[in-house]
Amino acid sequence: MPEADLSEPCRSPPRTIAWIGDSHGFVRIIDQTLLPTRLEYRDCRTVEEIWEAIRMLRVRGAPAIGIAAAMGAVLGMHGFTDRTRGAYWARLQEVVAYLRTSRPTAVNLFWALDRMQRCVQGKTEQLPPEQLTRRLLDEALGIEEEDRRMSRAIGMHGAALIGNGSGVLTHCNAGGLATADYGTALACFFAAAEQGRQFHVWVDETRPLLQGARLTAWELRERGINATLICDSMAAQVMREGKVQAVIVGADRIAANGDTANKIGTYGLAVLAHAHDIPFYVAAPSSTFDLSIPNGDAIPIEQRDPREVTHGFGQQTAPDGIRVYNPAFDVTPARFIDGFVTERGLIQPVTERAIRAALAEFWPVAQQEQAVT
Ligand code: MRU
Repeated sequence: MPEADLSEPCRSPPRTIAWIGDSHGFVRIIDQTLLPTRLEYRDCRTVEEIWEAIRMLRVRGAPAIGIAAAMGAVLGMHGFTDRTRGAYWARLQEVVAYLRTSRPTAVNLFWALDRMQRCVQGKTEQLPPEQLTRRLLDEALGIEEEDRRMSRAIGMHGAALIGNGSGVLTHCNAGGLATADYGTALACFFAAAEQGRQFHVWVDETRPLLQGARLTAWELRERGINATLICDSMAAQVMREGKVQAVIVGADRIAANGDTANKIGTYGLAVLAHAHDIPFYVAAPSSTFDLSIPNGDAIPIEQRDPREVTHGFGQQTAPDGIRVYNPAFDVTPARFIDGFVTERGLIQPVTERAIRAALAEFWPVAQQEQAVT
């Protein structure tokens, strides 16, 4: 696999995920499990390889998972030439159902796969398989391109929240690695820096898989942004010392009332921010909202391997046989969130009415009605 030089900050950031070639092509991802010490690409040529890459967090972060799944659906239809009535649609259903099992929490995965199905629905008896698969590829590339534009717009809106000379705290990784490019929470920092603002980012390391330490710290360093890494348990003290003027995090799924699932530890941070009177913002594209569920109780929380807690990065840190609870996400109640930074602007105050109004164009009317009844 190609490897990159990590000694120098890179000028143009590497691409998290890319489709290489025509509809017979493949998916190239950065293997995020190897960062920050190795920037290596991994080529996925089958739907099984994409499923594995999503499950193992080689590609991760809600928007990037959606893009990977969309491209995975194309891989799943590679070489499918059966023209028997119903065969193409049946195979696509299988592929999509399989990809849906890769991870449960980030709604972008399901949103992207629904889009992939819709783009050929009703056409599978009219067009030959080759043309249908080309359509799927165009849709996947469209999802990627839209995400790129949404991230830029989120950055533009979010930069306004970062005061000159302020400290901002973030959790997990909601940067260019978690999206097609630029990120959500980190997009706000990148845009503020491009506007010449001076500020400081506090980076939670994010136990147990250290997405903050491994990925966010790496991205901020690559872009030359002032940042300090802290253990998750240090956030309260840093806030008490008056060093944090805003918290900005990403999201994996936002319910209709604004309850938000994000990396485990986010809820605790929101409570801390509330206790210290620090504004707490969630930056996310429209594709991360799930208006079909009324509140966070309906968000499935991924449970991960206990060894992530007991044997982090190959080192045993807990006694054999100890019971472990390892939810990968938590749900922050809407009342602790001061605003959503979306590509459409800031949603504030956080109410179901404001969320539905902001997303009215994006979220299909039928689904809204279904959610209401
Ligand atoms: O388990 P991960 O690394 O996929 O979790 C990622 C997060 O929780 C991110 O904060 C979220 O997906 C937002 S990414 C723009």
